[in-house]
Amino acid sequence: GFSQVGAESDWRVANTKSMKSALTAKNGFKLSFADAQQKQENQLTAIRNFIQQEVDYILLAPVTETGWDTVLQEAKDADIPVIIVDRMVDVSDDSLYTAWVGSNFKLEGQKACEWLNQYAAAKNMSEVNIVDIQGTIGASAQIGRTEALNEAVEANGWNLLAQQTGEFTQAKGQEVMESMLKQYDNINVVYCENDNEAFGAIDAIEAAGKTVGSDIANGEIMVMSFDTTNAGLTDTLAGKIACDVECNPLHGPRVQEIIEKLEAGEEVDKQAYVDEEMFAADDTVTSIKVDDADYEVTTITQDIIDGRAY
Ligand code: AHR
Repeated sequence: GFSQVGAESDWRVANTKSMKSALTAKNGFKLSFADAQQKQENQLTAIRNFIQQEVDYILLAPVTETGWDTVLQEAKDADIPVIIVDRMVDVSDDSLYTAWVGSNFKLEGQKACEWLNQYAAAKNMSEVNIVDIQGTIGASAQIGRTEALNEAVEANGWNLLAQQTGEFTQAKGQEVMESMLKQYDNINVVYCENDNEAFGAIDAIEAAGKTVGSDIANGEIMVMSFDTTNAGLTDTLAGKIACDVECNPLHGPRVQEIIEKLEAGEEVDKQAYVDEEMFAADDTVTSIKVDDADYEVTTITQDIIDGRAY
């Protein structure tokens, strides 16, 4: 038996489904699941409960990066291997976890920013007046995506008008966008750090009587996002999200393989990044380069959405 501690969003639903369908009794697992409701204190409590239950493995999808040393030391003292999934932990001693599998969040942000850089050049955008609806502060997904944006703002001379957390939720994304629209009348790009925030931002923009889209020259407001959930890509197809960078949630089979290898006494990678794609509403930019590596930008179609696993 072993256990997972998780958190929120459309992305989270796909992630949970992937975990639950890989770690089944048929595959030899007994999964106990604790939904920590995006709160680290709940995750700490759940981990301590799992330690008391003497589970064989603990899977942790950490809400934020810091504050894990003590509880992970407790798991280590109890000889329970911890596998970190999706976001990272920031610990002084990396023997406190056995393996990590997740996303390169900084690279995701760099891909989105380079797409915008090329898009702006192709469309002769005279000014990029951008606002950033950040994720949960201190989460790897926020840290990497915000850091990439800040660097691109600096490198490309964009105007970063405002930067505020939307907690990775639709409700908060909408609320933050409403207040940013009241404060600034020249926003032309909204960098949402996940799809749920993008859904909220789109609602706020439309409720303010403005149009979401890529025709900046005619006053449209461009929304960018991360996750490529089914609903996110459906909004991309509708032209409401201009560019959506994948954050792959399908960690169930990956974790299954890690545990099976550990059970067989085999070596596992200490850290493994997953490959991720990116999609755009139109074909203005079809490939981008980040740190000398090329990435394809796929123009979204209904067939692509229908053929995807989440
Ligand atoms: O850590 C995964 C990221 O955080 C996803 O982008 C987002 O939807 C989630 O909340």
